[in-house]
Amino acid sequence: MTAAQQEADTVTFTVAEKIAWVRFNRPDKRNCMSPALNRQMLRVLDEIEYRDDAGVLVLTGEGTAWSAGMDLKEYFRDTEAQGLAAIRESQREAYGWWRRLRWYQKPTIAMVNGWCFGGAYGPLFACDLAFAAEDAQFGLSEINWGILPGGGATKIARELLSFRRAMYHALTGETIDGRTAAKWGLVNEALPREQLEERVTAVAGILLQKNPIALKAAKDAIRRVGEMTYDNAEDYLVRAQEAANFFDNEGRKEGIRQFVDEKAFKPGLAAYDKSRQRS
Ligand code: COA
Repeated sequence: MTAAQQEADTVTFTVAEKIAWVRFNRPDKRNCMSPALNRQMLRVLDEIEYRDDAGVLVLTGEGTAWSAGMDLKEYFRDTEAQGLAAIRESQREAYGWWRRLRWYQKPTIAMVNGWCFGGAYGPLFACDLAFAAEDAQFGLSEINWGILPGGGATKIARELLSFRRAMYHALTGETIDGRTAAKWGLVNEALPREQLEERVTAVAGILLQKNPIALKAAKDAIRRVGEMTYDNAEDYLVRAQEAANFFDNEGRKEGIRQFVDEKAFKPGLAAYDKSRQRS
């Protein structure tokens, strides 16, 4: 197998019923992120982002891991041996696809099927929603091998956890299971392993019924407003909606029409019927 083929194999994806299932595919290495995987993941995200046959992206892992974080050999030791330029390049590759995923055009769901360590908190946070197997294991393991949780992991712990929990998590390196991760707010829900895919498919189905321009505007807004004052957020949200109208001015009018004129649905309870929208 050529090096290019090996690199391409580090990530697999299928698209079915408008859901793109993207998989970390280094199960023998517990899906840890090598430079090759990071490059390939960006290519896969590129390929899926504007496809009409996919409305939601799910990120999961082959085998027993979601992702065991950065590849200690290929990402850290091998690049460090090549010097600063190689280190910076491999950081750009990793941080690049996480950033791309944070601001992805389509809503994204992390389906955490197993181990999730350190650097894997980057893509975990990048996904808009996260569902975990109850027996998945999460940890900021960096302290166990002698570094701080870098690559955004410390920021993510502070963003998603309380101060005390973030501190304990970072300093002890102890793992928590999916149930505790849900209790702490690291993921939305934890489910028995055999129900995980079914639940994620159902949530994806809910998102697929919504107006895609409104979804993109809403997910970006949730990420952006956290660092704004109330007045700045108010202004941003006015402008974000007006910008969304540029791409889809008919959707919200159709939603209002189906409710006010037709009484065909109740927006408090479900989405309008997109299929009847004139573009
Ligand atoms: N970097 C490099 N190699 C890794 C890795 C990582 N982050 N995680 C797993 N691997 C490799 C192992 O070296 C091993 O390779 P080998 O088969 O060539 O010897 C293979 O993946 C399987 O790992 P193993 O430890 O035998 O699997 P396990 O199921 O018993 O344990 C983990 C799974 C995730 C608990 C364990 O692999 C681990 O602690 N990994 C490191 C987690 C971590 O600290 N990540 C860094 C975060 S930045």
